[in-house]
Amino acid sequence: MRIISTERSQVLAARISEKLGVPLAEMKFARFPDGEMYLQCGDLDDETLIISSIVNSDMLVQTLLAIDAADRSRNTLVIPYLGYARQDRRFARGEPISVRAVARSLSYGIERAFVVDIHDPGTLDYFSVPADDITIAPAIGGYVGDLRLKDPLILAPDEGAIEFATDVAAIGDWDCDFLQKVRISGEEVRIAPKTVDAAGREVVIVDDIISTGGTLATAACMLREQGAASIHAACAHGVLASGAYMRLRAAGIASIASSDTYENASSFISAANAIVAAVLEDVHR
Ligand code: R5P
Repeated sequence: MRIISTERSQVLAARISEKLGVPLAEMKFARFPDGEMYLQCGDLDDETLIISSIVNSDMLVQTLLAIDAADRSRNTLVIPYLGYARQDRRFARGEPISVRAVARSLSYGIERAFVVDIHDPGTLDYFSVPADDITIAPAIGGYVGDLRLKDPLILAPDEGAIEFATDVAAIGDWDCDFLQKVRISGEEVRIAPKTVDAAGREVVIVDDIISTGGTLATAACMLREQGAASIHAACAHGVLASGAYMRLRAAGIASIASSDTYENASSFISAANAIVAAVLEDVHR
């Protein structure tokens, strides 16, 4: 077996290679003068593990090229971050179900797919090969433990993220709740934990993804008003679009961490252990 990766997943691929004891194949990436992408893989074996986060449209094309380059081997595709996953239904007439389009295109030429903390696990059915979700909530819990906060309160920004938050909180047996919007009047909305009082608490808001940071910034402002002692944020996928990092720091969030599913300077958490465990379990099945 050999491991290959696309350009934006190189660090995670190297970590997985080390933990699995499977060598990396060398990769060359370039562009043709018209902007089209080119890649070349080093020597491959009869099995290839492709590590590729779809962080943008170029990485989608690069993933398709990598799968094709490995067409003589049996391929497992690990997608640490699946872009386009949040357009998972038709919100208006004439729109695509983008996650379906992407999942279908990635299914050709692979035998198996894994996605890390996909936005909606139900959308894995759009792959035409067996596809499973891997959660890195335990790794995020490990990171929260390292922050050495006093009796932290783990908060999901909405009810949909409560399962993820519960899995994070289980690592330290910490309190866990979700933020709920309560309309006070026509103009006024209060966002507060459903049952736990945040006053005086060290709060960690956890989510699958931070994109613009709008969701977390609003929550942080409300929690500060409610007297939280400190507010931290941790997520699986740190997309951090449109100045999100600055927006979150300006909203009083003391620390922001994400994982290497979307490699950037806030990737303090690694998905490698969870991915390696899932791949090994699959091999031994
Ligand atoms: C929503 O369902 C997701 O779990 C995230 O809360 C959301 O996508 C984050 O987006 P943003 O950072 O742009 O508010």
